Amino acid sequence: MKQLQFLSACLICLWSCVVSAQSDKPTMKAIVVHEYGGPEVLKLDDVPRPVPKENEILVKVIAAGVNPVDSAARSEKFAQFLNIKLPAIPGYDIAGVIEKTGATVTKLKAGDPVYAYIALDKGGGYAEYALATEKETSPKPKSLNYVEAAAVPLVSLTAWQALIDTAKLSAGQAVLIHGGSGGVGSFAIQIAKARGAKVFATASTPNQDLLKQLGADVAIDYTKQKFEDVAKDVDVVLDAVGKDTLARSYGIVKKGGIIVSLVAQPDQAELDKHGIRGAPLGVEPNSDELAEITKLIDERKIKVIVSQTLPLAEAAKAQTQADTHHTRGKIVLKVAEKPK
Ligand SMILES: NC(=O)c1ccc[n+]([C@@H]2O[C@H](COP(=O)([O-])OP(=O)(O)OC[C@H]3O[C@@H](n4cnc5c(N)ncnc54)[C@H](OP(=O)(O)O)[C@@H]3O)[C@@H](O)[C@H]2O)c1
Repeated sequence: MKQLQFLSACLICLWSCVVSAQSDKPTMKAIVVHEYGGPEVLKLDDVPRPVPKENEILVKVIAAGVNPVDSAARSEKFAQFLNIKLPAIPGYDIAGVIEKTGATVTKLKAGDPVYAYIALDKGGGYAEYALATEKETSPKPKSLNYVEAAAVPLVSLTAWQALIDTAKLSAGQAVLIHGGSGGVGSFAIQIAKARGAKVFATASTPNQDLLKQLGADVAIDYTKQKFEDVAKDVDVVLDAVGKDTLARSYGIVKKGGIIVSLVAQPDQAELDKHGIRGAPLGVEPNSDELAEITKLIDERKIKVIVSQTLPLAEAAKAQTQADTHHTRGKIVLKVAEKPK
């Protein structure tokens, strides 16, 4: 009898050890996609907190930026294209404080305020903690709060890689930016102005004031005017819209000029016919370029437009707005209060 009592006491002890070991594993709140579908498939769950590998940084996320591409995780076609496996935590833009660094991380340390564009096949930004690498992460601009900082990385790098790396935009050149009031466009206008270019930009009627506020020399209301009647012989077109807009852009670029499209492959026959070049763009994380953008922000040459801030739990509402492709500036999810 005593042996039986001893055995059952041992078993209870063993079980409580297992349970407490499991509950000791830190968890976090995150938005998780378990199945493909509309924004309603975004669920707020408790999940294990990620552990950084030796080349990774664990960031305590204060704010997460929202981009149209975030919906890819819940679309079978795009998830496969971007190599996103379910269950997945969406979100590629974060701003927060480094909690922990892996052994081979040298430039950043715990406690640093940072922001990052996390590669599309990883994601994980809609969460209390997220992993990033040094190549994805830069110190946060001092002049921005965390919500503003989270609005910057993916779209500003897209604008930079389109205008500076691909089009080699230089002072005195003319550029037309389609979708100037959105995430990418609002940075593209300001980066082009900082380079000394003449900027034409398109948006709908309620966003004409924003185009001007961002520094566009010529604001075009695409609901009232044909952009090809206003912008002629430009050196560069940045197309963040596609379809008809791309098709109508070939004729306004001067010989030798370039169209960079974020949403489509420019038509080679049309490019040849007009004697111009064309390139699609797929934005890549780049902490050095993010640091260049940080400088322009802290020199007050770039301002950040956040039109809506929502709590993490309202990610579905945020993505519903992003899916409209008519967002003014950016939407940001507030994940936590800023550290003391
Ligand atoms: N390839 C890449 O690496 C890459 C990177 C980033 C983004 N993207 C893609 O690029 C697109 C833009 O991204 P985003 O973050 O800037 O999107 P966004 O924030 O939704 O902005 C889109 C903007 O386009 C404007 N717009 C809509 N229809 C237009 C039209 N017919 N003519 C001119 N402007 C129009 C809207 O202004 P109104 O509300 O005034 O119409 C809105 O401000 C998205 O499709 C996104 O997925 C691709």
